Amino acid sequence: MKAKIVYASMTGNDEDMADILEEDLQDLGFETDSSEVAFADASEYLDSDLCIFVTYTYGEGTMTDEIADFYDQLKELDLSGKYFAVMGSGDKTYGEHFCENVFDYQKAFLACNATEITAPVTIENAPDDEAIEAIDQAAREMADKLNG
Ligand SMILES: Cc1cc2nc3c(=O)[nH]c(=O)nc-3n(C[C@H](O)[C@H](O)[C@H](O)COP(=O)(O)O)c2cc1C
Repeated sequence: MKAKIVYASMTGNDEDMADILEEDLQDLGFETDSSEVAFADASEYLDSDLCIFVTYTYGEGTMTDEIADFYDQLKELDLSGKYFAVMGSGDKTYGEHFCENVFDYQKAFLACNATEITAPVTIENAPDDEAIEAIDQAAREMADKLNG
């Protein structure tokens, strides 16, 4: 099974999440490919069974240019028959905007007819032990659904 991970990260927290997830998925037998959003094209998801987007949220309800561009590419795709998962790091002091871009992308994948494989994992700032366990658990769910 192939998993494509695309991540957006300014200060490294989401890159750390993507790295943890990629290592988990490799341990669980997936063939993985991971790209930073600025160097990825959403059409690369078409070669994967599992499409993953890991993102920060900056800017209270808006998207940075790099994730807005990727979002526009994603919206053009038909991902019928593929699974997806979204996750990301934010900060709860932003209230209703906590991890908002994670949920924006969840809606976009659903609009592309992809099937959500596991609930979004949202964490605060850098991944701590609890966050790592949540990512590990999500990876196990992905493996159970795709290999089980
Ligand atoms: C200017 C600024 C705006 C932010 N806006 C939000 C926000 O709207 N919602 C949120 O959950 N976190 C917000 N954050 C927190 C970041 O998303 C959080 O620090 C995240 O871990 C950064 O991920 P990165 O290290 O991958 O860039 C903001 C941080 C900064 C500095």
